Amino acid sequence: MDRLQDKVILITGAAAGLGREYAVRLAQEGAQLALADINDCADTAARCAAAAQGSDPLTLSVDVSDEDQTKEMARRTHDRYGRIDGLLNNAGLMRGLAVKSLLDVDMEVWDRVYAVNARGTFLGIRAVFPYMRDQKSGTIVNIGSGSTLRIARAVDSLNPHYTSSKAAIANITRIVARELGAYNINVVTIAPGSTTSDRDQALAEGEAYPEPDAALQRRGVPSDLTGVMAFLFSEDARFISGQMIVVNGGREVY
Ligand SMILES: NC(=O)c1ccc[n+]([C@@H]2O[C@H](COP(=O)([O-])OP(=O)(O)OC[C@H]3O[C@@H](n4cnc5c(N)ncnc54)[C@H](O)[C@@H]3O)[C@@H](O)[C@H]2O)c1
Repeated sequence: MDRLQDKVILITGAAAGLGREYAVRLAQEGAQLALADINDCADTAARCAAAAQGSDPLTLSVDVSDEDQTKEMARRTHDRYGRIDGLLNNAGLMRGLAVKSLLDVDMEVWDRVYAVNARGTFLGIRAVFPYMRDQKSGTIVNIGSGSTLRIARAVDSLNPHYTSSKAAIANITRIVARELGAYNINVVTIAPGSTTSDRDQALAEGEAYPEPDAALQRRGVPSDLTGVMAFLFSEDARFISGQMIVVNGGREVY
C-alpha cells in the first residue's frame, strides 16, 4: 500500500469519525498528512503514526468557516512540507439536525450548517488553490452526501439545512473543477450513504447492520469509503473531475 508515497494531503474534520479513518488509510498509503479540525487531532495523529511507519502528521486547530483560519491552515501545511498535493474537505455538521417540520428549523443553526458545510468547503478550496496553481497539480475531494439524491418519506428525515448544504457542495465541485482544471487540478465529490463512522462500532456491528433499501443490504462501514478515497488521491484517478462518486451500497441509484 504505497499508492500515495510522499503526497502531501490536508484533511479537514480529521479529529474523529470518518475523517480519522481517511487519515489512517491515506497514511498507510504513504501520504504525509496535515490534520485540521475545530477539535484536537492528536489522537488521529497517534493512530496514523502507529499504523504507518514514518507517519508524523501536522495537526492544526481550524474552524473551516473562518477564512483567515483556512488560509493559515494552508500556509502552515505548505511551510511544513513545501507543497500541497491534496485537500480532503471532510469537516461537516451533520448530527442532531432532525426537525419535524421546516417551521422548526432554527435559522441560526441553518446558517451554521451552511457556514461549515458549504462555505467551509469553498474556503478550503480557496486556501489551497494558490499553492496547487503554482505547482500545477493537485486533487481536491469534497464530501457530499447520498441524502441529496432522495427525498425521504418521513419529514423528520429530510433535514433541509443539512441536505441542501450538501447539495451545494456537489455543485461547488462542478463549478470549481472547470476553473481549476486549467491548472491540472482535479476536483471530485464523494457522496457517502449512511455509514457507521467509528471503526470500532463498525467492527462490532459487522455485516449485522441491515439496510434492506440498499442493493448490498447493509449499512456502510469506514472501509467502504477509505479505499475509494485512496484511489481518488492516486495517479490512477487523475482524469476524474467535476463528478460525484456515490458510495452507498446501491441505496439510491441514479
Ligand atoms: N457518517 C455518515 O453516514 C455520512 C454520510 C454522508 C456524508 N457524511 C459526511 O462525512 C463527513 C464526516 O462525517 P462523520 O460521520 O465522520 O461526522 P463526525 O461528526 O463524526 O465528524 C465531523 C468532524 O468535523 C469536525 N468539524 C465540525 N465542524 C467543524 C469546523 N467548523 N471546523 C473544522 N472541523 C469541524 C468535527 O469536529 C468532527 O471531527 C461529514 O462531512 C458528513 O456530513 C457522513
